[in-house]
Parts: sequence; structure tokens; C-alpha cells
Amino acid sequence: MSALLLLSSFIATGAQDYFPPSGGGSLGKSTYAMSHPFAYKDFMEQHFPTAENVVQANSTTTCVEWVKLCIDDGHMTSCSGPSGNFQMHAVGAYKRDSGAKSMEDLEADFTKAFGAMDKYDPYFEYHVAFYTTGLDTYISDFKSAGVPHFASTFTDPATKKQYSSVVVQIPGSLNAAAKSIIAIELLGNSSLLAARADVHRHDLPRASSEGLARAASRLASAPRKYGSNGKPVLSPVHLSFASSDLDRDVKYFEGVLKGTKVFEGSAAGGRVYTGVVKSGDATEVRFMQPSSLTTQGPTSVAQWEKYQSDLHTKCFDSANNQGFDRLADNHFGHNLGGADLTPYITAQKAAGMPYRFYGGQFFYLYGPNGWGVQLIGTCTGCPSSGGYDMCTQGITGHCRKDQGSLLVV
Ligand SMILES: *[C@@H]1O[C@H](CO)[C@@H](O)[C@H](O)[C@H]1NC(C)=O
Ligand SMILES: *[C@@H]1O[C@H](CO)[C@@H](O)[C@H](O)[C@H]1NC(C)=O
Repeated sequence: MSALLLLSSFIATGAQDYFPPSGGGSLGKSTYAMSHPFAYKDFMEQHFPTAENVVQANSTTTCVEWVKLCIDDGHMTSCSGPSGNFQMHAVGAYKRDSGAKSMEDLEADFTKAFGAMDKYDPYFEYHVAFYTTGLDTYISDFKSAGVPHFASTFTDPATKKQYSSVVVQIPGSLNAAAKSIIAIELLGNSSLLAARADVHRHDLPRASSEGLARAASRLASAPRKYGSNGKPVLSPVHLSFASSDLDRDVKYFEGVLKGTKVFEGSAAGGRVYTGVVKSGDATEVRFMQPSSLTTQGPTSVAQWEKYQSDLHTKCFDSANNQGFDRLADNHFGHNLGGADLTPYITAQKAAGMPYRFYGGQFFYLYGPNGWGVQLIGTCTGCPSSGGYDMCTQGITGHCRKDQGSLLVV
């Protein structure tokens, strides 16, 4: 009886999360905790080329409002798991423990850090970057829709080519004064911004030369230039994190995630590193430690890193494969293409960092900045029972122990 309930709950609420992400390389998705995924959905579908993978309105049966979108790179033929494009997921698991602050309050803190998007803030380094050949189309759309956006320019040191960029914070909060913790940075080599002297100029590149070239070439070979809503198609470049300690984050990335460096740079503005988890990945991981970590928001980058990490420490009972929390929904997914998970598991354990297994082949591991990774590979002897459940796992008051009995209620 309870096994059946567990199984049906797995199928109802968890199965879709197990689709190995692909498309856009094997770093195929970025997932975020959010209080109001349907606000994210509305905004994304209006302003970006997307397609729906999973859309579930808020439900007290599954304890989640859930939106999983593909980002159309002009090659997309369908938005499903393995054959889908790069995906961005929003998870509104409202019963999960978000620590001393509510999800809405955390979103409000991010929103204060982003501010009016008229001056640089270290929180801009928390973003997903996409390359586009239609940057000015996006800028005029943001202008006419009144979407605040931070415009900037930079030079790729390898090619000496000029690039432009805009960052936008994406809606998704039940707090009417806040948006979500997601930001998107659009990059392009052709924009009116390039000629404007009033635009912020970075002394470090916003992306690696390799990442820019790879994304540009992906778009150049795309059969379509526009998504179904007329927006220019986008190719993922990287997933970026602000860092209060770049050396710490690079050590974890190379040591535990077995990543390799693509680019490293330093200038007056700070230090930046990009790398790939596996060679051949279309989407890089980026860490940026600005020389000034002063934010307009109430929470410093170091405090936010510690907040997430402390919550995972409280809520993960890794030895018993129990526990979860709301911010553990913040993770990216990487399909290792059937590779053995053992080296990653050994390294995560040696680093003393939190982790949890799902379904035998999904290894969730959390780094020193508090963000997670879902590695998909093979593992002999990894816990394989149980599914992903937003009503019973990581919930406030019981985050360290799954509440199996609630399934029967
Ligand atoms: C979903 O429902 C729960 C329970 O009623 C509520 O606490 C939460 O705020 C709702 N979320 C959204 C996005 O409406
Ligand atoms: C932008 O890059 C494309 C190739 O990706 C190239 O054809 C084009 O000339 C570049 N435009 C500028 C303004 O450099």
C-alpha cells in the first residue's frame, strides 16, 4: 500500500525531473526555487523564445507550482526531456524549508540587490547567459515593455572583438514588490550599445571567447532565427555565479565536479573563471569575484552563500539519504552520458559537503557557495528507492527526515 502510494507519487510529482537534460550540451538545465513560477512563465513566454516542457498550476496535492521551459535556439524540434533544448525550471515547493527567511523575502533581497538595474551590482553575476544575433530587438522590447535592464559592453581579449550585453531580472515572486532570483544576461556582437559612451564598460569579458564563438556558430547553423513568438533565438553560453571566494569555488569545481578551465582573467574589476564540467559541454560554468563585493541589497554575496550552505547542512542527512530543503531546488543538471558517478561521490564525501541520491542514478551535490548540481550517471549500490516529493521531503519543521506518512493522509 505505502509502496504503491510512493510509486504513484513518484510518477505524479517526480518523474519529469528525471528526464536527463540534454540539448545545449550535457549541462542541460538550470533549476530555481521560486514562490510564483506562473509569473515567471508569463514573463518568459512574452519576452523570450520558449516552449513548455512541464507546466503545473499550484496544487495542494503535489505541494508545488511548477514550470519547466525550453529555450529555443532555432534547432529545437520539441521540448521534451532528452531531445529538448537547454531548459530553465522554476519550482514553487511552498512546503519546503527556506530557512529563517521566506522564499518571498529571499526574492525581495535579490530584487533590492538588482535595484533599478542602472548600476553594476555583484548580484548581476548570478545569471544564465545566452548569445543572440538580435540584441537590439531585445533591448527595444524591454524598453517598450518598461523592463529594467542593465546595458554594458566589453572586449573579448582573445579576438579583440567588441560585445554588448543586457541583464534583466526575471519575475516570479508572490511578493508584488519582488521578482525571482533568476537573471538572464543576453550577449551579442552587434548592437547600438557599442557606440554609446553612457553604457557601463567591463574591463573583464562577460564570457569566454570559446563560449561566445560556440554559441554564435550554433545560431549560425540554426534553421530558424525566431521562436514561435517572434523573439530571436538564443544559444546558452554559461551559468554564472557571484563568488566571495573564487579560489574556493574553482577548487570545488575542478576537484569535486572534475571540471576543466576554459578561461581565467583578472583586472581592476575582479577575477573571473569559466570552465566545463565535461569537455564538449556547450554550456560553461562561470564564477566571478568582483573586486568590490558591495551590493545595494541587504545580503552580501558571502552571506547568501552561507545562508544556502547552512540550510543544506541543517536539512541534509546525507548518510541516510534523507532530507532536502527549498533552496536545494537551486541546481543545474548535467548528464554525464552514463559515466560512473563514483569519483564524484567519493570527492563530495571527502569534501564533507551535503548530497542526496534519487532513483539510483541522480546524484544531487551541493558546493561551498550553496548551489547544487544534479549529476546523472551510473552507480552500483547507490540508494535507488523513493522519488522526488514536494509534500514530504525537505518540508519546514521536518526538513531532515522525509515525512512518508503524509502520503497516506
Ligand atoms: C500554493 O498554495 C499554497 C497552499 O495554499 C500557498 O501557501 C502558496 O502560496 C500557493 N502558491 C502559489 C504560487 O499560489
Ligand atoms: C558578428 O559575428 C558574426 C559571426 O558570428 C559575423 O558574421 C559578424 O560580422 C559579426 N558582426 C560584427 C559587428 O562584428
